Formats: sequence, structure tokens, C-alpha cells
Amino acid sequence: MDKIRIHGGHPLSGSIKISGSKNSALPILAATLLTREPCTIHRVPDLSDTNYMVQILTHLGAQVERASGTVSVTADRVESLAPYDVVRKMRASVCVLGPLLGRCKEATVSMPGGCIIGDRPIDLHLKGFEALGAAVRVEGGNVKVFAPRLRGAVINLRGKFGPTVLGTDNVMMAAVLTEGTTVIEGAAQEPEVVDLANFLNKMGAKIEGAGTRRLIIEGVRELHGAEHDIIPDRIEAGTFLVAGAICGKGITVERVEPGHVEAVTNALASCGFRIESSARSITVSSNGQTSPLELVTDPYPGFPTDMQAQMCALLSTNDGISVITENIFPQRYMHIAELKRMGAQMQLEGATAVIQGVDRLFGAPVMASDLRASAALVLAGLKAEGVTEVSRVYHIDRGYERLDEKLSELGAHIERVKGT
Ligand code: EPU
Repeated sequence: MDKIRIHGGHPLSGSIKISGSKNSALPILAATLLTREPCTIHRVPDLSDTNYMVQILTHLGAQVERASGTVSVTADRVESLAPYDVVRKMRASVCVLGPLLGRCKEATVSMPGGCIIGDRPIDLHLKGFEALGAAVRVEGGNVKVFAPRLRGAVINLRGKFGPTVLGTDNVMMAAVLTEGTTVIEGAAQEPEVVDLANFLNKMGAKIEGAGTRRLIIEGVRELHGAEHDIIPDRIEAGTFLVAGAICGKGITVERVEPGHVEAVTNALASCGFRIESSARSITVSSNGQTSPLELVTDPYPGFPTDMQAQMCALLSTNDGISVITENIFPQRYMHIAELKRMGAQMQLEGATAVIQGVDRLFGAPVMASDLRASAALVLAGLKAEGVTEVSRVYHIDRGYERLDEKLSELGAHIERVKGT
């Protein structure tokens, strides 16, 4: 397995272009199953997760072509069964359930397992399908949803941890081809949900309220092909901003939507970093003074859980005592033990991490456990004295396009060591 080796302590400077959003691209690719006509999606990031989605679409019968960031899909005929072998590699494959149910009126998809960041149930997705009139059965590790006829309904998708992103996506994709009006209350407001709704509307869907807590969906008989540009990845942008804060002389992220990363730029500004935004770019720099921070992860527009690990890495060397509380995935703290091996001082109290800033981190061999935890270890490695080797790099390749190459362009001493 590949490793990433970092010689820490080298300042970063310059600018970097942000790729298309992974978490927009996955449901948008799934949405192409809703029409027989060709769809063309631009700025699809080249990641193992988007490759898995392409495999799933192909398995379901779609014709897919991929060339430098553009994916063309024609789902002339589709199968409604996505088995374990195809689905097990990526939890987000569950987002083919909604489009298959909408188009075929039935879908069987292997149940996603738990993952390192927590239990990750899909009860709210299924509750939404049932409200539209589908029957749901879980048999032999598969979830089967079917309904000869679906009807619009009022559905509240808010769960005990707040709204669900892929649950909102899934029910919205089933509802666009459902007779009557569907109202989703407690909808997720994430920019990726808005991007999906915009794409569906280009296909002829009638969705109002995207970006608010209430979606109103007027069902239509069929959808047509469409062309779409994926929005910039706000988590990749946030990760590079933290890289700039942690060891930058001043770095600029380009091709970004500053409004989408406001929670992150506000947090960085609150702990002493200088932020300058223009229409499509953000520059972060430091005057050498840092202060501690209290941070709580929340659904959008709150601080994203997908940036929590990276902030742990940053705050580990900020002055004073910082406190982070994880409200979305309370167990998402696998990076803490690894950061401590690099000299960080942090304690977990339930879903809260208490971080005592230290003067220095030290390079060490560390192990990536999930996508964002891996990013945090790379960031800590950039700051640490000596050599850090991050193993299990496949987690990073799931969600960051060329992370090592982009950091190297900014001046990091980072290399990928091929596994034997
Ligand atoms: N939840 C339920 N029941 C459900 C669905 C969710 O209780 O049926 C709970 C979850 O356990 C969690 C909370 O609701 O506590 C929110 O989960 P959500 O459903 O919003 O997560 P998701 O849609 O499965 C997406 C992103 C994640 C991101 C979360 C939260 C994609 C492909 N994944 O997951 O991204 O952390 O929203 O913003 O869009 C990542 O990119 O690293 C990543 C994990």
C-alpha cells in the first residue's frame, strides 16, 4: 500500500485551484439514472469514490464515458439491483436507491455497513421512501424498496443528529418522478444538496426551496438529459486553508465559492489568521500570533464535521486550550490517538476534544483511518519537525484529487512512496 512521506517544517506559499466537489458529484452522477437521455457532467473530480460511482452506474446498465473531468452518462436501460460486490466499496452508493425507485419503481441495493466514523444508519432515507408509498424490506443484507405507484407526501427528514444530506438527496430524487407534490421538511441545506437540485431542475424537475429547510417538489412524468458543472469542493478548499494557516507564508485557494466556506474562514479568523476573500478566491496568512478556539460542528451553515479533524491538527499548536465538540458523528475522533503520537496534547471527553496547544509537533509513522482523519495527519506532518509517514493513503485518494501533488506545488516536501 502507498504511503505519503512528509519532511515537515517547510513554509507553503502560492496558489492552488480547487477541484469539483466529491459530495456533489456522487449524487449528481446517481441522478443521471433518472433519464434515458445523455447527461454530461463537468468538473467531476478524479477520485476513487467517483470511480466507484462510475462502476455502479455501468453495472446498472448505463453507458459511461470519462475524459479529463467530464463524465457522460446515457442510462437508456437500467437494472434495479446493485449488489454487495459493487456497493460495499463506498457508503455513498446508497444514493442510487432514490433514482432507481423514482425511475423503475423498485430498487434493491446492498445495505451499507457501518464505517469508522460511526454507525451511519439509513432509517431516515427509508422513512422518506415509505412516506411516498414504497414498501421497504431488508433481506439477506439487501434493502429492497418497491411500489407500483408512488404519491407525493409531506415528510419530515430531521433525525436526532439533525438533517441528513444523502437522505434528503435520495428522497428528492425519488420524488421528482412521483405523482403529486412532495414536501420535505427538515431538509439538509448543504450546498451539495442545492447543486443536486439545480441539476435535477435542468433535467426538467420542479424543485423549489433548495438551500432552505423545506423542499417543495412537484412530480413530473419524465426528465430529459442535461449538462452541469459541479460546484467547487468546499472541504478541499477548507483543508488547503488550514494548510496555509498551519505553515503558510500566505496561500490562496482559487476556484472556490467563499460563501460555502464561511464557517471555516470565520473559525480561522477567530483564532488569529488573516483572511482575504474575493469573488472566487480566498487568501490565508498568519502574523505569527494564534489564539485558542471553541468550535462545535453542525449542519450547514454551521461548522462542517468534514473539517473537524483538520481543525484538531491546526489547534494542536495554537496557543492556549481549544475545545471542539462533534455534533454530527460523535465518534469521529480516530485521528486524536495518531496526533498524540506526534506530540499533540488532546483529551476526549465524550464527543468533545480538549486540546492544549503545544509549541512543536514531531514527525512519526501514523496511520490514516478515514478520509478527513488522513488529511489531518498530512496537515500535522507539514508542521511537524522531522519525517512523518502516513500509511493507508487509499483513504486520502477517496476524496482528495492529487493532494500530495497540490501541496508539493505550494512548497511542501511531500512524496508518495509506492507500496510493494
Ligand atoms: N443519520 C441517521 N439516519 C439516517 C441518515 C443519517 O440517523 O438515515 C444521522 C447520521 O448518523 C449522522 C447525521 O444523521 O449522525 C448526519 O448524517 P448524513 O446523513 O447527513 O450523512 P451522509 O449524508 O451519509 C454526507 C457526506 C459526509 C458528511 C455528512 C455530514 C456524502 C457522500 N457524504 O454523509 O461526508 O460528513 O454528509 O455533512 O455526501 C466525507 O466527505 O468525508 C463525508 C463523510
